[in-house]
Amino acid sequence: MSFHVPSLNSETAAMLATPALLVWPDRIDANIRRMLQTAGRPDRLRPHCKTHKMAEVVRKLTAAGITCHKAATIVEADMLCRAGAEDVVLAGNPVGPALTELVRLAGRYPDVRFSVTADSEVCVRMLSDACQAAGRCVGVLLDLDVGLHRTGIDPSSDAAAALYRTIEKLPGIEPAGLHVYDGHQHQESLAERTNAVRSAWEPVQRLIERLEADGHTVPELLCGGTPTFPVYAEFSDPRIRLSPGTCTLHDVGYGSKCPDLEFEVAAAVATRVISTAVPGQLTLDAGHKSVAADPPASRRVFFPDLPDAQAIIHNEEHLTVTTSQAARFTPGDLLMALPIHICPTVALHHCALVVQDGRITDEWSIARHRRLQDGRCP
Ligand SMILES: Cc1ncc(COP(=O)(O)O)c(C=O)c1O
Repeated sequence: MSFHVPSLNSETAAMLATPALLVWPDRIDANIRRMLQTAGRPDRLRPHCKTHKMAEVVRKLTAAGITCHKAATIVEADMLCRAGAEDVVLAGNPVGPALTELVRLAGRYPDVRFSVTADSEVCVRMLSDACQAAGRCVGVLLDLDVGLHRTGIDPSSDAAAALYRTIEKLPGIEPAGLHVYDGHQHQESLAERTNAVRSAWEPVQRLIERLEADGHTVPELLCGGTPTFPVYAEFSDPRIRLSPGTCTLHDVGYGSKCPDLEFEVAAAVATRVISTAVPGQLTLDAGHKSVAADPPASRRVFFPDLPDAQAIIHNEEHLTVTTSQAARFTPGDLLMALPIHICPTVALHHCALVVQDGRITDEWSIARHRRLQDGRCP
């Protein structure tokens, strides 16, 4: 798979302060069209905003008919509400002050339907108490562990059915379905990924049947991320909702790991050469304060114009690469760095610069903080 982003015009390139996060809205539009094509219908989608974190992207999704969203933080949930989301799932047991903030947010946006995912009785009881005290009702999707072993209950355990029963009984909350996130499934071959997802689904299917036999309703089956998006999209159960996140901006990590995903890279970090002092090397201002450092140190960015670049040092503000092309460059030269992992890269920037026809036309702010703007700590 080849990766590239369009060039900036020379005036824009000369003026650009680096490092800077750039986004290409026409590519985001193309990714949204592709999401709709894969899902078949907008109401089958609940994209996770943890990648784009930008109200303008949420508005694009809304314009495409997508009204349900997923968030990882209270600040993301707040951004979704301000951008006009109708239905928000906060993924993860809300605990500590986040619980109070969630209930407050629900009060501030009475027309938005709020739900959370939960995997423990302690958490659902705390949520029930907080909702009851505030006179609110929040939906709860039972979080299932289908192999990632991060959060969630084993779907074949008695504990899963028992917790669903508890959610149904407690006041202030209501069962909203099942949450099936499987970030460990990123097999290169789509056929292998499909087989793995289908076999992990078997105990989930048995749980659904068990819950229904016990008289419960299971309104939503919220499934997957970007790699498993095309797999769940083929499932026929009308309650399936798909929650890819990365694919709105997409990245080189997923693009190379799962080549069947036909999304376009819609974001990059513009960086400049800041030193050519060591022969055969370039040092750029793309340190790990502007490019995510969670992939292995040697592979955090890809340079379309420097495909043989090998990272040898990645410090806070410096990225040093070796390349056979080093002699062509002088300090100040601009390069486009495509992050291997775009989601945490976006979270390192206050705003994204919007590129259209080679020029910067706008600036979109990023809901990257942990505190709401009114200064309270969620
Ligand atoms: C709970 C949950 N849902 C959905 C997603 C989206 O997954 P992806 O980044 O593969 O699109 C993530 C990613 O971290 C997640 O944690």
